[in-house]
Amino acid sequence: MNKLRIGLIGVGGIATTRHIPTLLKLADRVTIVAVSDIDANRASSVAAAFNIPKAYQNYEEMFHEIDAVFISTPNKFHAEITIAAMTAGLHVFCEKPMALTSAECEAMVSASKQAGKILSIGYHYRFMKEPKGAKRIMASGAVGNPLVVRVQAIRRRKVPGWGVFTNKELQGGGSLIDYGCHLLDLSLWLIGHPEPVEVMGTAYNALSRSPGQVNQWGSFNPDTFEVDDHVTAYIKFAGGTSLLLETSWSNNIKEDVIENVSISGEKGGLDVFPLTVNYAKEGMLFNSEAAWIPGEEDPSLPQAENFINACQGLEEQLVKPEEAWKVSAIIEKIYESTNLGTSVRF
Ligand SMILES: NC(=O)c1ccc[n+]([C@@H]2O[C@H](COP(=O)([O-])OP(=O)(O)OC[C@H]3O[C@@H](n4cnc5c(N)ncnc54)[C@H](O)[C@@H]3O)[C@@H](O)[C@H]2O)c1
Repeated sequence: MNKLRIGLIGVGGIATTRHIPTLLKLADRVTIVAVSDIDANRASSVAAAFNIPKAYQNYEEMFHEIDAVFISTPNKFHAEITIAAMTAGLHVFCEKPMALTSAECEAMVSASKQAGKILSIGYHYRFMKEPKGAKRIMASGAVGNPLVVRVQAIRRRKVPGWGVFTNKELQGGGSLIDYGCHLLDLSLWLIGHPEPVEVMGTAYNALSRSPGQVNQWGSFNPDTFEVDDHVTAYIKFAGGTSLLLETSWSNNIKEDVIENVSISGEKGGLDVFPLTVNYAKEGMLFNSEAAWIPGEEDPSLPQAENFINACQGLEEQLVKPEEAWKVSAIIEKIYESTNLGTSVRF
């Protein structure tokens, strides 16, 4: 089989620390033909650093020489670049979140259908060992019908103080769209993507807006901090499942990080981090934590392999664009609910 010819668009942090090194490990299956960045110096220095033959400022100039693109630009550009690449007949791996709005996601899905090309989104938590194990537990029936799902993506004081993460226009939001989206995606995948019917959400940023904050991940200007740093939401699904979401970059809790999806079902329950199955037996209550789970620690390689396999028709893609669209649709409703001060229905 011919090697997949790949180009990367937006070669900042995640492209240079995850995607390029991972694709270089898969050199028997792919060739990185070119990189592109709106910052021409960045494009050429990244190309030189990784021995990539070509660098472009205008991404469309490389479309004729590649089969697939990895898009790692700020969120605002995900939709327009995906649609341009699909229109040129390319497969697309786009970083999370899929886009800023549900309407943009819809346009991306329809461009992918029209082109008949793979579109996958960088929800890499699904490729981690514990979530994969949790998916198998859900499929086994040990949990049964999910009743209440708790989703936590909570950091005490880790506002990303670099790049454009606190820029609302470019990113569309803060802790929820950047970090909470991962665990929300994971939870929806585990419970089989039921239809959301109603959302109540509240977004905060009082901490990051006040001067002199302690922050563990660099520094930011509180006067220009436009996005959320802490969000809570309650989501109701058709079929009766409810989901409680809490996500933050910054808050005043005692823990450094709390990251988990906990599902309480009709038959049993599970926690993803650490992977634990909770059940009642013989009049007693048990929590059994996995002692060993097969798989890779780093999800980067299995994520890239799944995308390459899907492009080459060898395997189904794990993260489908319709599923990532659902995550973005819920996030959009949480922000809408915050602005309106009421719950909102789908
Ligand atoms: N999966 C994850 O856990 C994860 C982690 C970090 C970032 N991300 C996502 O990756 C994306 C990029 O994040 P990052 O941390 O690498 O940001 P970054 O700021 O480090 O890099 C973004 C790059 O895109 C370039 N760029 C900006 N606008 C462009 C345009 N219109 N066309 C081409 N290039 C453009 C910038 O010059 C920069 O080099 C974001 O969507 C972010 O949410 C995902």
